[in-house]
Amino acid sequence: MKLNKRLSSLASMVTQQYDHIWDCCCDHGHLGIELLQSCPTATVHFVDVVVPLIEAVRDKLQTEYPDTHHWTAHCTDLNQLILPETQSKHLLIIAGVGGDLIIQFVRNILFNNPGTEIELLLCPVRHDFKVRQAMKSLGLKLINESLVVDKGLFYEVIHIGPNADAEIEATGSLMWDFADPDHQTYLEQKINHYQRAARSNPKFTDVLLAYKALKTA
Ligand SMILES: C[S@@+](CC[C@H](N)C(=O)[O-])C[C@H]1O[C@@H](n2cnc3c(N)ncnc32)[C@H](O)[C@@H]1O
Repeated sequence: MKLNKRLSSLASMVTQQYDHIWDCCCDHGHLGIELLQSCPTATVHFVDVVVPLIEAVRDKLQTEYPDTHHWTAHCTDLNQLILPETQSKHLLIIAGVGGDLIIQFVRNILFNNPGTEIELLLCPVRHDFKVRQAMKSLGLKLINESLVVDKGLFYEVIHIGPNADAEIEATGSLMWDFADPDHQTYLEQKINHYQRAARSNPKFTDVLLAYKALKTA
């Protein structure tokens, strides 16, 4: 199965060893299946709230990975997810859902799993600025980030955790390469979007100024 560019970028950002990797909101499970192959020492968990989706993923895994790989499939609301083995290292990947939902999920996961070492790899659909601000306010730090262009659409991928050193910047930091025309296009899109938003709601003026400041940095 050939992954799209967004999902393959997510998979390529899993470079450390984890005991458990969670493909949250897994839908078709394509990302988790890739990680079964690229991270053979981890247990890969597939999580979705929709029963038929998880049944289909479980059927596929039972056929294609009957016993050679470690995996589980859970039909669970992420807001209720309880992680096993609190002493283990967990990576939770949440991609392809809106920023507000991601913020809600992460707040609940951290609240429901105190004391467990949790890293997160997030790829929101929109509201990246708000997601980053919320993650910073939860005390999380930046491990890595990248900007992905897939079929003309832009996605920010943010790898964060409790034990890193770098601050999470709301407008992004490591991901930018302003020599890359795609990155220039993305920044212009952000500025144009928040210019329109600030016209109808002044609360977006600060966001606009933050993106504009990247142009002059
Ligand atoms: C668009 S798919 C994303 C699939 C994949 N992660 C990707 O990035 O391509 C969103 C998935 O989130 C799942 N989802 C929505 N709310 C959820 C929740 N509260 N708990 C678990 N899964 C949820 C949906 O059932 C759906 O399969």
